[in-house]
Parts: sequence; structure tokens; C-alpha cells
Amino acid sequence: MHQDIQEILVSEKEIKEITQRLGRQLSVDYEGKRPLFVGLLNGCIPFMSELVLKVDIPLEIQFMAVSSYHGGIKSSGDVNIKYDLNTSVQDRDVVIVEDIVDTGSTLSTITKLLLHRGAKSIKVVTLLDKPSGRVVDFIPDYIGVTIPPKFVVGYGLDYNEFYRNLPYIGVLKPDVYTK
Ligand code: IMP
Ligand code: MG
Repeated sequence: MHQDIQEILVSEKEIKEITQRLGRQLSVDYEGKRPLFVGLLNGCIPFMSELVLKVDIPLEIQFMAVSSYHGGIKSSGDVNIKYDLNTSVQDRDVVIVEDIVDTGSTLSTITKLLLHRGAKSIKVVTLLDKPSGRVVDFIPDYIGVTIPPKFVVGYGLDYNEFYRNLPYIGVLKPDVYTK
């Protein structure tokens, strides 16, 4: 697995610092609000589990699965809901947790959907932001780190469902996805 990585973009130590910083900020911003944290599966898993442990106010956890990529390295732009929330978002302060914002279409679609379902507020926290990939206007509210226009894997991010368990964010060697 590690030999397929060309370069480490965000180390384990940096990820730890990021989750601590974001967790502290969310604890302050959501004090007294009992937010509903909605993780987008499967990519959110490592980040979400680290992050919620750093938030020390009462919160609820739910998940949604949406797909926008179809196994390749470019976003297709359309979003399917594969697994939905088990609870109502009516009047809730929702915090969507995502691994990466690229084209912005997943988050802008989900944000609109949850607002339409009656959420009181919606903010997005993302480990990575790739603003160079945007096709729709979308600015995440909380960003771990902004990255250059590269395809990355690890810490939840996959290539054809693999590499999610790398403990850091890395760039795949091109020959891994061209062969
Ligand atoms: P968006 O709708 O294009 O912003 O897509 C966001 C989703 O695309 C993320 O949740 C990831 O699943 C996937 N994605 C975008 N960029 C990358 C990348 O560099 N590596 C792995 N997955 C990515
Ligand atoms: Mg994803």
C-alpha cells in the first residue's frame, strides 16, 4: 500500500492538529446547541471519528451515503443518495462532515436537500478542500487544509475503494491508476 504513494501531502501529525483545532472551534461555535453531525460515508469515517472525540459538547451522530464518483479519478457531477438519515433534521443545527470538497456538487446538493427538509442551520466541515476543482460555487465553513489540484488517497479517501486505511493523505503514483 505505502509503496503506491508518491508523496505525503498531510501527515498523521498534521491531521491530529487539524482535528484538534476544528474540534475546539466547533465546541465553541455550537455551545448550547446540541448539533446533529452528519457524516458522508464512506470517506468521512476516520476524520469523523477523530473529530467528534475533540468536540466536548453534546452532539448526535448520523450518516448519509451519496455517490458522485464512479470508481475513477474525476467527479461525474451527479449525486445519488444511497443511504439516508435515520432521523429528522427539522429545526436541527446540522454539521455535515466530509473528507474532501472538490467540484462542490455533493455538498451543494446535500446542503440544499437538508435545508429543504427543514434544518435550522447547516455548516460543512471538511478535512480537505480542493478549490481548483470547483464547478459549482461552494465554500466550506470549516476547512482542515487546502490542497493543490492532485488526486489524493488515505485517511478515508479512496481510489477504487482502496487506500482508505492509510493513516495520512498522500498522492498516488500515476502508474497505479493508469495501469
Ligand atoms: P465533489 O462533489 O466533487 O466535491 O466530490 C466530493 C467527493 O469526491 C468526495 O467525497 C470524494 O469521495 C471524492 N473525491 C474528490 N476528490 C478526491 C480525491 O482527490 N481523492 C479521492 N476522492 C476524491
Ligand atoms: Mg466521499
